[in-house]
Amino acid sequence: MKLDTEAIKSEAKEMLEKSGEPGSLAEWHSKYLGKKGILRTLTSDVSDLAVEEKKELGRKVNELKSYLEEAYAGSLNSVTSIKKDKPLENFYKTLPGKKPEIGHLHLITQAIREINEVFSKLGFIRVRYPEVEWDYYSFEALNMPKTHPARDEWETFFIDLPEDPKLGKVVITPHTSNGQIREMLKGNLPIRMLNISRCGRRQSDINHVPTFYQFEGLVVDKNISITHLKGVLEYLIYNFFGKDTKFRLRPYDFRFTEPSFEVDVTCGICGGKGCRFCKEGWVELGGAGMVHPNVLKAGGIDPEVYSGFAFGWGVERVLMMRTGLKIDDIRYLFENNLKFLEQF
Ligand code: PHE
Repeated sequence: MKLDTEAIKSEAKEMLEKSGEPGSLAEWHSKYLGKKGILRTLTSDVSDLAVEEKKELGRKVNELKSYLEEAYAGSLNSVTSIKKDKPLENFYKTLPGKKPEIGHLHLITQAIREINEVFSKLGFIRVRYPEVEWDYYSFEALNMPKTHPARDEWETFFIDLPEDPKLGKVVITPHTSNGQIREMLKGNLPIRMLNISRCGRRQSDINHVPTFYQFEGLVVDKNISITHLKGVLEYLIYNFFGKDTKFRLRPYDFRFTEPSFEVDVTCGICGGKGCRFCKEGWVELGGAGMVHPNVLKAGGIDPEVYSGFAFGWGVERVLMMRTGLKIDDIRYLFENNLKFLEQF
């Protein structure tokens, strides 16, 4: 086998001198030093030869290799030196780049958008009402007079501001039900409202955080009955969790609905077997019921003509019950730990 490494060298040198651009340098590299380049081909040719020939040619090929590598390194340095008026000159396309880290919407934002999408298909319109609110809208108009013991359940934060003679104290609204009254008072009937907003309560454990999100549905029209309520809840549950999730309505007592329920689903973390989060396989998503006549009245609506249903559930709770997510402590959602968030 004849091998004229000198000819290869001089051709390579010539080509390298001409190649001032980073692009053509890359081409040069793949022609001579690349995976299918001349050097690789020669190396494999040599390995097929008889021992005597191998020695001789092997040496030549090695020498060629050092020559090409050095020449390449030299050119690379000159090409990558930065020139201000030609900013692209330090761009070398086969060098691995630095990938910018791209984030994504927070899990809760994703859930809010998805919930909104499910309800918008049923004609619900998303609204938002004050998160710092008068006592009147959060309690009194919801059939909970000033000293009513049922208020205790809402573990409310009070804001240190002067009381209004009619509307009472200022609170961080402990639920989205204030939106029911505000929506009714707008006076547009029928109503199909979805109020998603932030709420506050004095609580903190694996199941509760002091600041959380709720979504409140309110439908008011003529001839609205409990079957409509159940149908809407079923629609949400099947769309959000899938048909394998079971749900149940448990009789409950809210002052602003009658009858009232709490709605449970089979736990999405353990599939209903029982775990540290749910204990017995069921998880409460929130409350629901038929709007109390006193609440309709407070909203300026005649309960003899109109009826309605409402429900208020926790966004985080709904998210956590999604099969496969396996988030078994609500506080993870608020810690802003990238290692946690990047998983979703
Ligand atoms: N506001 C109630 C809660 O926070 C939930 C609810 C909303 C119940 C609407 C009935 C109707 O627990």
